Amino acid sequence: MIDISSPLTFRNKFLIFGGGFSGDYFAKSVRKLGCIALTSSRTDKSDPNSFIFNSENNSIPADSIFEGVTHILSCIPPDKDGCDPVLKSLKNKIKNSSPTWVGYLSTTGVYGNTYGDWVCEEDHPNPFQDRSQRRLNCEKEWMNSNLPTQIFRLPGIYGPGRSTLEAIKTQKIKVIHKENQVFSRIHVADIANAIIYLLQNKNNLDFHPIINIADDKPCSQIEVISYGYRLLGLQMPKKILFEDAKKDLSPIAQSFWIENRRVSNKLLCEKLGYELIYKNYQAGLNNCLISFN
Ligand SMILES: NC(=O)c1ccc[n+]([C@@H]2O[C@H](COP(=O)([O-])OP(=O)(O)OC[C@H]3O[C@@H](n4cnc5c(N)ncnc54)[C@H](OP(=O)(O)O)[C@@H]3O)[C@@H](O)[C@H]2O)c1
Repeated sequence: MIDISSPLTFRNKFLIFGGGFSGDYFAKSVRKLGCIALTSSRTDKSDPNSFIFNSENNSIPADSIFEGVTHILSCIPPDKDGCDPVLKSLKNKIKNSSPTWVGYLSTTGVYGNTYGDWVCEEDHPNPFQDRSQRRLNCEKEWMNSNLPTQIFRLPGIYGPGRSTLEAIKTQKIKVIHKENQVFSRIHVADIANAIIYLLQNKNNLDFHPIINIADDKPCSQIEVISYGYRLLGLQMPKKILFEDAKKDLSPIAQSFWIENRRVSNKLLCEKLGYELIYKNYQAGLNNCLISFN
């Protein structure tokens, strides 16, 4: 008998809730393996691979969308009350479709501030921001859903079309310096590829319900920005000290500078054997440059 749960084939059907930057990239990646992958959008995209789901106005997908589903990936952030939009509206429909695997894209914000120290999956979440508290709540909802859930904690996501290069071009970038401040990041291709790797090898790997997907090189924002300017052959403006820049930053932008942590990928890359495509921002931005215009 053919095992339809792994490896991935044309027999697999993915429903991806939230066809934004990561969801859309993931859908395209699994389609290359022959899988069916439908992505949700809050508006009609007139695309046979897209369906409407909007928890805010209760636009719920038809039952036919769930027929034959084997895998589900949710890429939708928490709602304003800290509830998960997908579980709130679709839990029963998902349960009735009996998926073999459910993935949830979360954030490393749930770890809170480690003052620059490394964090791994065994560390206790300690959310500092309200939005991270809401996120941890959604993680718990997924873990308690009795669905075969796997949570992926992600730092800042970038990739072609959404990177420092675009920020430089649109002059949205601020060259801010804060002593000892680092950020972790991940290229969108590595999110998709790592998840696919885990699914393809699920019969040979230990199952871990929570996995960080981050690159090898947490570093300062200024290091990444200066590399971006160099790639574009442009002169980087003078840096501004965080204390001086703070007053002109939006509350959400300020909040990112309050936390300082290095996200470990040892579970994914050492224990589970995933090899990053873009190990650091240099490799990732070189890739972004190829399609940059
Ligand atoms: N961006 C980052 O740096 C980052 C870092 C760590 C974790 N994350 C988290 O990882 C996940 C994927 O990130 P991303 O940047 O790829 O996401 P994204 O591009 O912002 O896409 C989010 C998707 O969620 C959908 N959505 C939002 N609210 C919804 C609702 N109430 N009902 C139905 N659909 C809704 C959006 O629909 P439309 O397509 O109709 O807009 C969109 O497709 C998100 O949960 C995000 O918060 C992001």
